[in-house]
Amino acid sequence: MGSTEAPARAARALGPWHPQEFMAECVETVPEAGGLMTFVFRRCDGAPLAFRAGQYVNIAFPVNGEDQDPVDRSYSLSSSPTEPWTFNISVKRDATGLVSPWVHQNVKPGTVLEMLGPVGAFHLPDADRRARYLLLAAGAGITPIMSMVRTIHSLPGHADVVVLYHGAEAGGFAFHQELAYIASVDSRIKVFYSLGDRNKPEGWEGLSGRLTAAMLDEVAPDANGRQVYACGPEGYLNTATELLGKVGVDDTSIYMEFFSGDRQTLLEYQAELALAVDIAEEIAEEIADSAEDYYESQPTAFGLYEPGYDAEGPLQATGLPLETVDPEAPETSDGGSAAEAEAEAPDASSFETVGTGSLTLSFMRTGINVRIDPTEHILGPAQRAGVRIGANCKEGMCGSCKVVKLSGEVDMNHQGGIRAREIDAGKFLPCCSTARTDMVIDA
Ligand code: FES
Repeated sequence: MGSTEAPARAARALGPWHPQEFMAECVETVPEAGGLMTFVFRRCDGAPLAFRAGQYVNIAFPVNGEDQDPVDRSYSLSSSPTEPWTFNISVKRDATGLVSPWVHQNVKPGTVLEMLGPVGAFHLPDADRRARYLLLAAGAGITPIMSMVRTIHSLPGHADVVVLYHGAEAGGFAFHQELAYIASVDSRIKVFYSLGDRNKPEGWEGLSGRLTAAMLDEVAPDANGRQVYACGPEGYLNTATELLGKVGVDDTSIYMEFFSGDRQTLLEYQAELALAVDIAEEIAEEIADSAEDYYESQPTAFGLYEPGYDAEGPLQATGLPLETVDPEAPETSDGGSAAEAEAEAPDASSFETVGTGSLTLSFMRTGINVRIDPTEHILGPAQRAGVRIGANCKEGMCGSCKVVKLSGEVDMNHQGGIRAREIDAGKFLPCCSTARTDMVIDA
């Protein structure tokens, strides 16, 4: 029998349910009732997104253009984590808002966005022996509740779920067709709609009126004893808190997500996000370490290090041999060895120059100058010239080709294989970068 003292390395490295920074591509858009649009995404690195039903992701939207700072917004995940290969957010268009109109107009299949997640303490429990829920939603507050309903519906078990969904108009209940279907085939789930204080249109069969203790009693006479999850505008949630107390629901059984921009909510979001960023950085380091171990363990037959050839046969790189770097030497803060930093920098003008093109890339460790065209990705010509750069995906996803640029500028079009702080530290991915100027590269 194996030891249970420590989790397996792979399981730890995957970091299930821990927030990560990743790039995601929109693969589908689905209009919903009530001015919502569902955006279906998949991670660009091909990994599933592990989250808990009810959590949200923080997304950087380039609303002012790609060269300006993006604007961050958090959106609840509306899909079920039991289908983790894609995930959905559902965004209500607020005509006066900065971000949501931009999202509705610009996010389309093929749009790639930077995300952080999953985040949030408002979610179904990992294990609940009682599994009796009262889910309260108002307006766009249905999005995390929808994730919970889809999750419970997709899993076996003895759940008992009552959903009470308040909307402003009869045609404004997002997901109503799916909710009706789920309620019709899954006897564990009951869905009630209420039209708030609007007039009931002819033929309306749902409830009407704002949330009251009588309404709670009507839909869930056994509310006391259920776990209550509520999401909606602040006024609605304040009312819900008061009424749930009146019908005997204990405070410790109530979980709420405020969909408002009030100061307190924003501060709570900021605190959650700051923590998520810290955790994401730790997880990214673990993943990078295990990816490095993995790629280093692959045989060269996989073509990770392709020797260079020209018409006269294999290219011989000149200059500094790799072995001059002492792996035991203490590291400097930028990851180089102190001995290396002290060693006199080689003179690139003495390196052999290969290739053709208007720009010159000097690879300082290999000791070779490679001339390239500004339109070609740097990795290919560098590898052909004998520069040892590990590479796997060749699409800017896996991060295995990451190198440091000592000077010069690149245009990089990556898919999540590098993090913002690595770029700030001067790293780049040669598989998806073109040179803008002559460059000096630490490889
Ligand atoms: S080879 Fe995968 S990111 Fe460059």
